[in-house]
Amino acid sequence: MKTNSQPIGIFDSGLGGLTVIKEIIHLLPHEDLIYLGDTARVPYGEKCPETVIKYALQNAKFLTNKKVKCVVIACNTAAAFSLEKLNESLSLSCLGVIEPGAEAAVKATRSGKIGIIGTTGTIESNAYVKAIKRLNQSIEVFCQACPLFVPLVEEAWHVHPITHQIAEIYLRFCFEKSIDTLILGCTHYPLLKKIISDILGPEIFLIDSAITLAEKLAGLLIKEGLLNSQSLQGKHTFFVTDMPKKFYNLGKLFLKENVFPVEHIDITNY
Ligand code: DGL
Repeated sequence: MKTNSQPIGIFDSGLGGLTVIKEIIHLLPHEDLIYLGDTARVPYGEKCPETVIKYALQNAKFLTNKKVKCVVIACNTAAAFSLEKLNESLSLSCLGVIEPGAEAAVKATRSGKIGIIGTTGTIESNAYVKAIKRLNQSIEVFCQACPLFVPLVEEAWHVHPITHQIAEIYLRFCFEKSIDTLILGCTHYPLLKKIISDILGPEIFLIDSAITLAEKLAGLLIKEGLLNSQSLQGKHTFFVTDMPKKFYNLGKLFLKENVFPVEHIDITNY
């Protein structure tokens, strides 16, 4: 039996999901949140589907043991590969970033040409393409894997000239294919919004999956009668599978507030 006072569980391969939690806190300030960053096994974006699914199942098990009322897969790669499996194996609602991002892009496009950028895994999974085509078969979708973006952001080079140059190369396809909407299909890319919008200009609309996911989550909680009714600010608890200090130090860049306390756990027990 689920109750509205239970926390929301969120997992990501590491730090990046803090961009998602930031939007959830903004929209749902009274919710208690439990975040798991699988920092021991990051990155997921360059791993095969079977490995990512195995990790995602363990992460979800950790969160369900914490008695969460729903599970959010903040990591695009994990959502792309494992949402179906998690929905089959969990007895509570599980939400990923892919569908909300696809829905927002389909609503936004005028030309019917959408671009997607993400990790190699997310792009190869075709999950965004399938989600868009389910909504509107006639939309043309163009994809580009950007594997260098994650390490650049984790180096705190999100406004660095080198990152700008690399982004120019990755984003060339947006002009070649005349897209008018681009999905930022990775947890780290909201930090690159400035560089990306400087390169693409105002004509190309950027879809931040973190924002659309938070909106979808709010809708789900309302529908299921699970919105937390407390008037206090929700409690936020962070767990990582390795290097809590690094998570704490870099976390502020993603969340724009202190990530505290951070507890180390052994995920292989799940
Ligand atoms: N969180 C991942 C994603 O959104 C990016 C980092 C990784 O590769 O694990 O796809």
